[in-house]
Amino acid sequence: MTCLGCLSFAAAKPAAANPSSTSSSSKPVVGGPRSSSLSVALFSLSSSLGLTLRLDRAPKCCFSFGFRRRASPNLETLKIMISSAPASGKGTQCKLIKDKYGLVHIAAGDLLQAEVAAGTENGKQAKYYMEKGMLVLDEIVVNMVKERLLQLDAEENGWLLDGYPRSLSQAVALENLGIHPELFILLDVDEDILVERVVGRRLDPVTGKIYHLKYSPPEIEEIAARLTQRFDDTEEKVKLRLQTHHQNVEAVLGVYENITVKINGNAPKGEVFSEIDVALSEVLDKKSKESSSSMTFFSSVS
Ligand code: AP5
Repeated sequence: MTCLGCLSFAAAKPAAANPSSTSSSSKPVVGGPRSSSLSVALFSLSSSLGLTLRLDRAPKCCFSFGFRRRASPNLETLKIMISSAPASGKGTQCKLIKDKYGLVHIAAGDLLQAEVAAGTENGKQAKYYMEKGMLVLDEIVVNMVKERLLQLDAEENGWLLDGYPRSLSQAVALENLGIHPELFILLDVDEDILVERVVGRRLDPVTGKIYHLKYSPPEIEEIAARLTQRFDDTEEKVKLRLQTHHQNVEAVLGVYENITVKINGNAPKGEVFSEIDVALSEVLDKKSKESSSSMTFFSSVS
């Protein structure tokens, strides 16, 4: 039996041979049947069946190589960014969001801490800046985050990007890759509260759980005894981190102002989460309505 994917490829001219061809897809398309009417039909068919045609993974000889089932296409998944001053509760809220919405949590700070702990060359360089409360160089951070975002689990389950972008250049790097969030959450916390949160924060190295000596104390003595403190969690260092935050935050907000929701982060964590939850539900509702109106359009024209 002739494979539709192969037929389409056989009929196709390489994209480079057809410079006038355009693609509305934000995904990179390498070669492939952009000029073939058969391929256009194939794209339409795959799209209406909820499939994604992966020309960047060119089919070798069979339909199944070229098509991959799109996991819950954009309807039940979300692409979210969360930003705030240091120690304002991003990690705490991300855990709650992840538990409810199943998003892949990608924290720039955690990726960097992992490099530091592994003693890699990137980690050594990163630590120099982290100790000074400065932003780690884009050449380290941008690729690290980009590679994580493009992994399959993030594409399929949606993502929650924590602590990135922190500068205009980082935001622009994502925009240039066609990576756009659906909501930008800004946690707003008073500075005196931030300092209290930072100095009281502790981490359980066994479970990865974040504690606070006053607000979320460890449940039992055994956990209390093994808690660790981050090297940049001192009052002196948080002031430097805050300074860096203030220097960059406005530029980042400028990129996402149409999709920003500002949340009062001074409240207890459950209340903060309730506000975030409402905002996320609204995004899902909106997507669901948009999808049903486009389905109505599709069935009325076909
Ligand atoms: P990163 O690790 O991201 O640090 P941060 O932004 O300073 O944020 P934190 O992780 O300190 O805090 P959080 O907001 O997650 O708060 P948490 O939930 O833990 O970055 C570290 C460094 O890496 C940077 O300084 C920079 O050098 C580098 N870096 C990172 N990203 C980069 C990038 N994109 N580009 C370049 N460099 C980058 O909460 C804090 C404490 O408060 C906890 O103890 C918690 O239990 C408690 N708490 C939380 N919420 C509440 C609440 N509502 N009520 C009471 N207590 C609460």
